[in-house]
Amino acid sequence: MTHPNLTRLKDQADAAIEAFLKQWPESAGDGLYAPVHYLMRLGGKRLRAVLALSAAEAEGTSCEVAFPAAMGVELFHNFTLMHDDIMDAAPLRRGKETVHIKWDENAAILSGDAMYTLAHIAFAQLSAEALPKALRLFNQTALEVCLGQQSDMAFETRNDVTVAEYMEMIRLKTSVLVAASLALGAIAAGASEERVQLWYALGEELGLAFQMQDDLLDAFGDEQVGKLLGGDILADKKTFLRLYTQENGGMAAQEVLAKWDGQRHDAPAKIEAVRAAMTAAGAADAARDLMHAHVAKAMASAEALGLEGSHLEWFQFLGGMVTQRTS
Ligand code: IPE
Ligand code: IPE
Ligand code: MG
Ligand code: MG
Ligand code: MG
Repeated sequence: MTHPNLTRLKDQADAAIEAFLKQWPESAGDGLYAPVHYLMRLGGKRLRAVLALSAAEAEGTSCEVAFPAAMGVELFHNFTLMHDDIMDAAPLRRGKETVHIKWDENAAILSGDAMYTLAHIAFAQLSAEALPKALRLFNQTALEVCLGQQSDMAFETRNDVTVAEYMEMIRLKTSVLVAASLALGAIAAGASEERVQLWYALGEELGLAFQMQDDLLDAFGDEQVGKLLGGDILADKKTFLRLYTQENGGMAAQEVLAKWDGQRHDAPAKIEAVRAAMTAAGAADAARDLMHAHVAKAMASAEALGLEGSHLEWFQFLGGMVTQRTS
């Protein structure tokens, strides 16, 4: 799936990030920056950066005013991935070894901390008018992401998680950053508080759909995903797929889940058994329905913003991309 804006804005974000990171060469800092360069060069869709630039353009400015915000959200996102992969014991990211495997956990912790700091350095390049608003939102977002990640971990060992709790957990761990990316782009462009909030609302709904597709890909995707498939099943993550299966799969599904909960041995057998229970329960279709409902809500916000013409069409493309992506 491609779109002229996608390649154009992603290329600009990539170039800005590369130029920014030149200030901290890979060979400097006793190896502190090597994992930063490694992860940033592994690719990634750069969705959050593209969203920040897109909101600035839709607000009628050049996307360049939002470069600091775009770099900031993308560096922050990659920092969360570096730490998330330790927490999730994930061996693969973007088809390559994760930082804590290629180096070690200490490297992933500390280089992650460095990236979090680099994100703040990037934001500091915003205009004096935008900076205080942007920092307030960014710091609130960062704290919420921690809260979401905390719930994600806490839910692994709980068996009474509700769909409402799952939605709030993914809102915190994923949506708020997608929402903030748009809002920060709008702030950089000098948008009114009211419009910044509409951008945030659009991103919140888009982000929920984005994480639902992430969960679908983890369970049912192919090697294009670039992560260990079935990792969520292995870790007993309380995804919508899992909750729906538990609720609607009957005794057979409940027995499968109970049998494998807490087990990490014989990973392929566990993944196959739980995936089969999910399929039998129709969990993927139910997840897709809910995901599409959230994209529809995002599109309602796009209309409330008064987006039209090529701007509306671009956000409609982004809505489709979130649900149809394969990586
Ligand atoms: C993965 O994000 C982590 C989630 C919040 C779901 P992306 O799917 O945007 O990862 P990259 O940056 O494109 O690799
Ligand atoms: C990631 O959720 C959320 C954050 C990194 C904050 P996941 O754990 O599902 O992301 P992936 O699937 O590893 O990319
Ligand atoms: Mg993970
Ligand atoms: Mg995780
Ligand atoms: Mg995931």
